[in-house]
Amino acid sequence: MSRIIGGVATTHVPSIGKAIADKKQNDPYWKPFFAGFDYVHSWLGREKPDIAVVFYNDHGLNFFLDKMPTFAVGAAAEYRNEDEGWGIPVSRAAAGDPALSWHIINALVADEFDVTMCQEMLIDHAVTIPMALMWPGGDWPVKIVPISINTVQHPLPSLKRCLNLGRAVGRAIKSYPADLRVMIVGTGGLSHQLDGKRAGFINKEFDQLCMDRLPSDPETLTRYSIHDLVEESGAQGVEFLNWMAMRGALTGHVREVHRNYHIPISNTAAATIVLENSEEPARKAA
Ligand code: DHB
Ligand code: FE
Repeated sequence: MSRIIGGVATTHVPSIGKAIADKKQNDPYWKPFFAGFDYVHSWLGREKPDIAVVFYNDHGLNFFLDKMPTFAVGAAAEYRNEDEGWGIPVSRAAAGDPALSWHIINALVADEFDVTMCQEMLIDHAVTIPMALMWPGGDWPVKIVPISINTVQHPLPSLKRCLNLGRAVGRAIKSYPADLRVMIVGTGGLSHQLDGKRAGFINKEFDQLCMDRLPSDPETLTRYSIHDLVEESGAQGVEFLNWMAMRGALTGHVREVHRNYHIPISNTAAATIVLENSEEPARKAA
């Protein structure tokens, strides 16, 4: 049976791709952010996942406002990136695992999540930047199952719905007969707003509250409506929905093992978190 080993959530700001291309990881502006990935690299080196299930939001590369699925699951053997217009290099493609994708899709529909299934799907910076951050050498040792959540065109799914979507994905992974080590990724956030009167808006206090509650008490956060979330975290801070889905998929005992929070990267409060998931309760110190 497949095992869910844990989750990583991270911002996906496109300019990170430019910083990587220009090798600016140690520049004073970028270092506090990139240094937050040292732990992630050692965790991934130790845990050796086979699969990354990635909750993210597409920003107009694959889906546009004319057709916007609330939840879409990739079922392709390969996911390509294309020029998105951010002035960053086009990313390498990511390998898919269609058999696992279809298992998840079947389980979700049986569980009353009527997802859009995508046998072709371009992945945008919300997938490629986190992948490049987690595996900086350009060699990605995992296959991915991308799951896109609409955070762009209202009405958006609620925090509760995304937590429950994650839980359904977690149950699906655990019932998959192949012996795979699966990690869950949630991308985007934390607080930011790119447009309108509040462009540049960041809310550190609310971000801290979200990160504090997410590991052990994600349910508390479901009392925020989408409009509350826009108000507290900014119009694009709603990308936190991807973090909630990631947390939902960790169906065992969850422990936070790493956190980094840095303001600003571009217009965003940039956060990274690593959660471990185990089926056994953590042993108390003697
Ligand atoms: C930025 C943040 C995002 O989440 C995004 O998708 C694009 C740009 C930014 O802060 O620049
Ligand atoms: Fe974004």
